[in-house]
Amino acid sequence: MPAVKVPRREAETVKRKLKRLGLYDGKRRPKRGDGYVLLPVINDPLIEELDYEVLPLELSLRPERQLYKNLEGILAGRLSREELEYLRRYDVIGDIAVIQIPSEIEHRTEDIIWGLRKVHPFLKVIARKGFHKGAFRIREYSIVWGEKRLETVHKENGVWVKVDLSKAFFNPRMKGERYRLAQLVRDGERILIPFAGVLPYALVIARYRRVKITAIELNREAYKLGLENIELNREKLKGEIEFIHGDAFKLLPELPTYDRVISPTPRGVDALRLTLEKANGWLHYYDFVHEERVDAFRRRIIGECRRLGRDCSVRIKKVSDFKPHVFKVCADVEISVRSD
Ligand SMILES: C[S@@+](CC[C@H](N)C(=O)[O-])C[C@H]1O[C@@H](n2cnc3c(N)ncnc32)[C@H](O)[C@@H]1O
Repeated sequence: MPAVKVPRREAETVKRKLKRLGLYDGKRRPKRGDGYVLLPVINDPLIEELDYEVLPLELSLRPERQLYKNLEGILAGRLSREELEYLRRYDVIGDIAVIQIPSEIEHRTEDIIWGLRKVHPFLKVIARKGFHKGAFRIREYSIVWGEKRLETVHKENGVWVKVDLSKAFFNPRMKGERYRLAQLVRDGERILIPFAGVLPYALVIARYRRVKITAIELNREAYKLGLENIELNREKLKGEIEFIHGDAFKLLPELPTYDRVISPTPRGVDALRLTLEKANGWLHYYDFVHEERVDAFRRRIIGECRRLGRDCSVRIKKVSDFKPHVFKVCADVEISVRSD
């Protein structure tokens, strides 16, 4: 895969442009040189038309992609080329590996277990993952190897996160997103996080910033794990976390406004107005949006802001692929009081 070489000061702008054009290769890592940055791009003739210096370079894969490649490499001797096509990216959460095994390669489960244990000798559990269910967004899992538990402690962004995948939602792939938000936050902010789960966002932000966070979660099991997580990380946290067990839709109307609201909204739930009303400076609102509906989503946010008598600017960031043509996105909404 090629890379484009751009002056360091232009790197962020060019990266955004490449992403917009669908030419950026997010599976690989950019590389910094002396005054320049090499940005990974996909093989596409359009690149040559953009007037950047294009180099025939193979930039290294992001660590999670590299691990996946390692598994694929190890299994290449056991699975046919066609079967390898069905192999999916997997996650390692603490000492548990979770992997989707499509029915087409179900008969290869033993080989996949063997491969995963070779790549990660420390694993204690391997679980096959199903789909998220219900308002608490808990996934279905079946343990295919190892100890019969789905509880573990995962390390992310310098904090410990105790999880029980059979009782509460947790997505390790949001690691980069949590780091991004922590970097946007400034010391002194008051932050509200409804739909807080076992507290991964709150912990990462409080680790980096002296802030006051109010977090809300309805699932009692997630709430209990979250309380344990505050204790587990007590020494590391610069910020304070107040954790409330309850329904965000009932509690938020009673709460004051905050400098920043972060809404890791459960899929299928519409909490836009609810959370916008509580945000004085910023709202980061997560949702699942079809690629053709991104502009409509932006217009809806702007419309809601206006109804609340506020102005806002909205930047919509693609966070991950969800299914063909549908993305998980985060709307970063900057809110101000209307001047007219
Ligand atoms: C998509 S998960 C996000 C969890 C967490 N922020 C994370 O990223 O790991 C949504 C969370 O909202 C919780 N939830 C669902 N409905 C809720 C409600 N009405 N009030 C508070 N929490 C709710 C679910 O139990 C789940 O933990």
